[in-house]
Amino acid sequence: MLPWSEVPERAGFTMLSPTNNTPPAFFVRSMRASDLDHVVRNESAAYENGWNKRIFVDCLRAGYLCWVLANKQQIVAHGVMSVAIGECHLLTLCVNPDYQRQGFGRRLFRLLLERAYKLDARECFLEVRASNAKAIALYRSLGFVQIGERRNYYPGATVAADREDALILSRALPLP
Ligand SMILES: CC(C)(COP(=O)(O)OP(=O)(O)OC[C@H]1O[C@@H](n2cnc3c(N)ncnc32)[C@H](O)[C@@H]1OP(=O)(O)O)[C@@H](O)C(=O)NCCC(=O)NCCS
Repeated sequence: MLPWSEVPERAGFTMLSPTNNTPPAFFVRSMRASDLDHVVRNESAAYENGWNKRIFVDCLRAGYLCWVLANKQQIVAHGVMSVAIGECHLLTLCVNPDYQRQGFGRRLFRLLLERAYKLDARECFLEVRASNAKAIALYRSLGFVQIGERRNYYPGATVAADREDALILSRALPLP
């Protein structure tokens, strides 16, 4: 096994706290099919209407940027981003509730945006529930602004029929 300091970028690893050759406490790597049970568990814990395994399988097959942030024990967060024709779209970003508000969501999103920029994305778009104050605060703090909305886009968080609007946010890349 390669020491952590020599893991090539193409392997999809980014160290979050490198110390010589010892494994970092947290790291980011590409999502694998074998991660999906854990990923879906985190989705269900964090969201009322989280994605199921099938959707993640489709994202992996589509070649989207599908990344997890993990420590040696567990997957802490995951994010999925599509990149094409000079744009990227954040499709999901999720942090296990036990690890929220510790900077992991911001860190993972920034890393995805940096990779998308390297892949020639010059603008990022995302949709977020109008009631999702935590996520909206994160996106605004990174310079995203609202450019539109989709009426009744999401199923209701508790009653599916009570649909909820999506806000469409965007910002130019790269991040400062
Ligand atoms: C939204 C989410 C990804 C944020 O991840 P996180 O790791 O908890 O967030 P961070 O610790 O990186 O915080 C980044 C910023 O988000 C905002 N934020 C995060 N949690 C917040 C909270 N409880 N209240 C208000 N703002 C909050 C703040 O602006 C924060 O910056 P600050 O700490 O400097 O004030 C996470 O809460 C989550 O997984 N939520 C459920 C899934 C979800 O809603 N995903 C977004 C779908 S569009």
